[in-house]
Amino acid sequence: MKQFVVTGCSRGIGRATVEYLLAAGHQVHALSRNKDLQIPGATMHAVDLRSDDSIKAWARSMESSGSVIDALINNAGTLVNKPFVSMERSDFHDMADVNWAGTAMLTQAALPLFSKKAHILNISSMGGYQGASKFPGLSAYASSKGALSILTECLQAELGPKGLIFNALCLGAVQTDMLAEAFPGLQAPVQPATMAQYVAEFALHGHLLHAGQVIPVTLGDPE
Ligand SMILES: NC(=O)c1ccc[n+]([C@@H]2O[C@H](COP(=O)([O-])OP(=O)(O)OC[C@H]3O[C@@H](n4cnc5c(N)ncnc54)[C@H](OP(=O)(O)O)[C@@H]3O)[C@@H](O)[C@H]2O)c1
Repeated sequence: MKQFVVTGCSRGIGRATVEYLLAAGHQVHALSRNKDLQIPGATMHAVDLRSDDSIKAWARSMESSGSVIDALINNAGTLVNKPFVSMERSDFHDMADVNWAGTAMLTQAALPLFSKKAHILNISSMGGYQGASKFPGLSAYASSKGALSILTECLQAELGPKGLIFNALCLGAVQTDMLAEAFPGLQAPVQPATMAQYVAEFALHGHLLHAGQVIPVTLGDPE
């Protein structure tokens, strides 16, 4: 049995990943901003990735309960689909704040809590994968995910020598509320439970064969 931390657990891929890990007998600390959220079997934490105070309070509560993290799945993310011509500075900041900087700050706060050879798995996007097809309306989202992908490589270089292992999965389209809200009517070829199983199993085993890698996970052509 391993101890997981999963962010973005209120719905979608994060929620399905928590449920998969719990069913497999692991301990899960499940994070989202929703204070009322309950997932039977998981330890719930209300954390807003935009707030350093919220992140620090979470890290203190993990430390005081003696928690040790074997794998952190940085799944939380936010997406606004908007033409570049109407993007405001705040749109870039909002998406960067959650998808990149907030994820980095949560990972930093977790550093004292990691077990030896812990796996930090960042959930990026095919939009943030260099050379993959890009789509109109996603300039802020995709570039924030690109930053997360590069962050993964940087942290492997900096913290890999201390034993931590960082990887990023660049997901293709999955049929979640995020996708439905951003692209009404679009049908994705993958359901959240299928992707959650892949993410959970990769978090468990992927670091035995991958370190510092940014990996496309798509049924489409990654070019
Ligand atoms: N669905 C796709 O097609 C697709 C494709 C490629 C990549 N991805 C990535 O996969 C991940 C999961 O996507 P999804 O489709 O499952 O998205 P989703 O249904 O919108 O879920 C996103 C989760 O992130 C949490 N979140 C958002 N803002 C947050 C904040 N400020 N602080 C803490 N948590 C926050 C939300 O929880 P609360 O609102 O309760 O806080 C929610 O649980 C995301 O990183 C997304 O970018 C998705």
